[in-house]
Amino acid sequence: MQNHKSKRLEQKMKSLVVIDACVRQLDSRTLRIAEPIIEALSQRYKVIRYNLPEMDIVPLNPCLFAERGKGSIPAWAKEAATVIAGADRILIVAPFWDMSFPAVLKCFFEQTSLFDITFTDNGKTCVGLCKAPKVLYITTRGMDIETGSDLEQATPYLKALSRLWNLGELTTISARNMDYSTEDEIDVKIAKAVAEGTELAETW
Ligand SMILES: Cc1cc2nc3c(=O)[nH]c(=O)nc-3n(C[C@H](O)[C@H](O)[C@H](O)COP(=O)(O)O)c2cc1C
Repeated sequence: MQNHKSKRLEQKMKSLVVIDACVRQLDSRTLRIAEPIIEALSQRYKVIRYNLPEMDIVPLNPCLFAERGKGSIPAWAKEAATVIAGADRILIVAPFWDMSFPAVLKCFFEQTSLFDITFTDNGKTCVGLCKAPKVLYITTRGMDIETGSDLEQATPYLKALSRLWNLGELTTISARNMDYSTEDEIDVKIAKAVAEGTELAETW
């Protein structure tokens, strides 16, 4: 049982929202990189985690769209959007799929991008309502595609969404060519990315 002191400390800690879109779950190489980094960050942040593959998230279909028009939003989505808007840091963990990220992550964003929660407008354009000044994105790619290549469409999308929601600086940590590397090479790449992330975690 937590004592009062550690409870108070946890209440005072800043919050980190982890959005985990690793569909292969326990087999995920991306999670092998992310878990030690999350562990390091949990020393300084209160971690709130969304494991998307367990959440049965669907796209905004005609029924959900009509309900939204009437002001009815799924409780989980409203709550997640509110938590994201109030978070101090955001960490997105997602493998590289179809030159971007798994659709479940886009569905999550579609459901949680909510007017007057993650963004609003000023009569002329949209204005973000989130406050996290830093976002970290961890990924692994099967092909030899580097961050910033025009074949890599996850980082640009996350930057654009960050602009809509008023999230700050995006850092991408990646390991690549994973589907064309030996197990030993994969281990080395993962260790390198973990070292990069845990070093960043000390000051991030
Ligand atoms: C459905 C699916 C789509 C993928 N699409 C791509 C792709 O477009 N480009 C690429 O470089 N790798 C692609 N890959 C390979 C993954 O990026 C690579 O295996 C990665 O390490 C998987 O991460 P994970 O182990 O965390 O699931 C794909 C893998 C899957 C399963």
